[in-house]
Amino acid sequence: MIGTPTPFNTALTDTQTAVEAMLDAYLPHPDGPEAVLFQAMRYAALAGGKRFRPFLVCESARLFGVNTRSALRVAAAVECVHTYSLVHDDLPCMDNDDLRRGQLTVHRKFDEATAVLAGDALLTLAFDIIAGLETHELAEVRIELVRCLAAAAGAHGMVGGQMIDLASEGASIDMGGITRLQQLKTGALIAFSCEAGAILGRGPQDRRHALHAYAHDMGLAFQIADDLLDVEGEAAIVGKATGKDAKAGKATFVSILGVDRARDQARMLSNQAIQHLDLFDEKADLLREAARFVITRPN
Ligand code: IPE
Ligand code: IPE
Ligand code: MG
Ligand code: MG
Ligand code: MG
Repeated sequence: MIGTPTPFNTALTDTQTAVEAMLDAYLPHPDGPEAVLFQAMRYAALAGGKRFRPFLVCESARLFGVNTRSALRVAAAVECVHTYSLVHDDLPCMDNDDLRRGQLTVHRKFDEATAVLAGDALLTLAFDIIAGLETHELAEVRIELVRCLAAAAGAHGMVGGQMIDLASEGASIDMGGITRLQQLKTGALIAFSCEAGAILGRGPQDRRHALHAYAHDMGLAFQIADDLLDVEGEAAIVGKATGKDAKAGKATFVSILGVDRARDQARMLSNQAIQHLDLFDEKADLLREAARFVITRPN
């Protein structure tokens, strides 16, 4: 899926392996009358996926010398929130998709009620993991992580963005509106992933702000690339159906700017993201690569 072994690809693969082992350990095993719920959670969360947000958590944590286990716990929690958002995003009442990460969506494999519940349970599992003592010895750090993840995932973050996304179907929306939509629905969780390392490592404000600015621009670039893949990608490679945004009348950067200008915009945002890392030394090189990856990724 990732291609030639560059330092970035190797690091991303390592994160995938480590975070999947952690998810496997935290996800309940099918047992008892609720076994199908556990099965659906595992089906959704262990199906692959780039694990890009976990990578951002681990790399930002490395900048501040955070121990790997703490970083991986937060990484697993972010991936639980992200996976839940995908399970619900695919439901018939939202984007009505049949394919995700190269396999049937959860509601198609199981049923809608199970998909709703599996999503709910993944979301709450995330906070269970973060709040655990092993995440950080200081309760105030764990509380800040809980608070920031809740803010990124909730009504003023991802969920709010999903609402605007649905409300904007078929409506005309300007660049400011689309930027806010994308920033909330995708950018907020990416921003949390980048700031998590600074929270865990109690990094100085200027570095935390720099990571936030980096994530802001990269998050937008990430979603523009997703919108471009919907237009130009192939389902077999992307792992989800393509050509759906235009059919659903979704408001995207591509629907407003067209393919070429949207790609220019993504490139500009990726470069801008890299510039925000100027106050970090070569330890941030993989994050610099990550900003290039988001706009060149094949899926
Ligand atoms: C897809 O996210 C949904 C968006 C926010 C654009 P990813 O492209 O990170 O999906 P996975 O986790 O790799 O499947
Ligand atoms: C979804 O955006 C973002 C989420 C918060 C899940 P999309 O609806 O564009 O994501 P895909 O294309 O289905 O992965
Ligand atoms: Mg959607
Ligand atoms: Mg969707
Ligand atoms: Mg999409």
